[in-house]
Amino acid sequence: MSSAHRPVQGMSDITAPEVRLWQGLERAAGATLLRYGFEELRTPVVEFEAVFTRSIGETTDVVQKEMYVFEKGGRRLCLRPEGTAGVMRHAAGLGPQETDGARWYYIGPMFRSERPQAGRRRQFHQLGVECLEAPSPLVDAEILALQLDVFRAWGLTDCTLKLSTRGSGADRAQVAAGLREYLSPHHGDLCGDCQRRLAENVLRVMDCKNEGCRKIVAGAPAPTDFMAQESRDYLAGVTRYLDDLGVPYELDARLVRGLDYYEHTVWEIEGSHLGAQNAIAGGGRYRISLGGRELAGVGFAIGLERVVAMLEATGRDAALMSDPPPLAWLVALGDEAQQQNLRLMQELRAAGVACRMTPGGSLKSQMRAANKAGAAWAVIRGDDELAQGVATVKNMASGEQQQPALDRLAAALSAAPG
Ligand code: HAM
Repeated sequence: MSSAHRPVQGMSDITAPEVRLWQGLERAAGATLLRYGFEELRTPVVEFEAVFTRSIGETTDVVQKEMYVFEKGGRRLCLRPEGTAGVMRHAAGLGPQETDGARWYYIGPMFRSERPQAGRRRQFHQLGVECLEAPSPLVDAEILALQLDVFRAWGLTDCTLKLSTRGSGADRAQVAAGLREYLSPHHGDLCGDCQRRLAENVLRVMDCKNEGCRKIVAGAPAPTDFMAQESRDYLAGVTRYLDDLGVPYELDARLVRGLDYYEHTVWEIEGSHLGAQNAIAGGGRYRISLGGRELAGVGFAIGLERVVAMLEATGRDAALMSDPPPLAWLVALGDEAQQQNLRLMQELRAAGVACRMTPGGSLKSQMRAANKAGAAWAVIRGDDELAQGVATVKNMASGEQQQPALDRLAAALSAAPG
């Protein structure tokens, strides 16, 4: 079968009317983000592969299995699998005055070559934020509050925030040793990937999706058991601020997240009505070294396809979609009217009216086109209307007609058709 009319598996076109929901999501989130002092940053979809391997980590699933990598001009490039590393690549090229306290957000497509299934796409879209303020539980709590505010702006309140800590960089060796001690006797029962992870990056065993591994991990000690008191205090600081703000959360000591750049606070947000892929957002505090600079930040990314699915499943999509303005269809009887309608159409558009016309054809075929496009009004002009400086305006729903003068036409067409 020809593939010329199909997108690549796991990728899709977003068409009207659903695309209006996407626009509504962006509008509502943008307004919320501005109140928190975030500016939009648009980074390229293609980056050097090293931007991600260095920050996300060589032994993560995203880097080892899911990146779309290609070579061009002797350089290894890739489609971005997430947004944080590209934003940090941007930051690494700036001076400290420009990065200290920087707050950026982004919206765009990300690419991961995962096995497509409900809620898991190969091209998906994230709305993410990154905040480069000096590390503090207070900032982490503020960013978490922002995240829930964005969901609230979308009408999504039935979300669960799962919170944990990855501890500091200094905790890493202790955590790895503790987990390895528990997992090593189970070596033979782990999947091939996890047998390798046990040696390379034992934390990654904790979020393996293999059923057998999950059973073993269920009995493992929590990574937090091996962390220093300072790291627990940091998390306690975050929860104190969240309590103060009235932000509900569940502590989940086994939440490790799939990316290696995190330290201290990490979280995931679970939505409802979504089945197995119910993480609608994930985030945390991180430290990334790129281009000779070490950058510490906190942020999150929301999976927009999953948000759209949740809004549609709960019937809350319509509230975010603005209806297109009523469309006027200019209908011409004769060549002279046709020519003058082109100019009239531009004048009406300049006055804020949405309009279109059919390039030629009979009255019947023009009216059929107006109907098919869902036009609210037909604006009909022939020699009589041209001579009198008026237009015949037909309400497409009721069939009612009026004949306003041309200088009143824009006002008549802007009114909601009764
Ligand atoms: P992540 O957890 O890998 O984090 O992705 C964030 C969200 O993107 C997920 O919760 C999910 O909703 C959505 N997502 C991920 N993969 C897919 C997929 N294959 N199909 C559909 N949706 C998907 C990050 O990407 C981090 N950069 C978040 C972050 C920002 N941490 C700090 N700053």
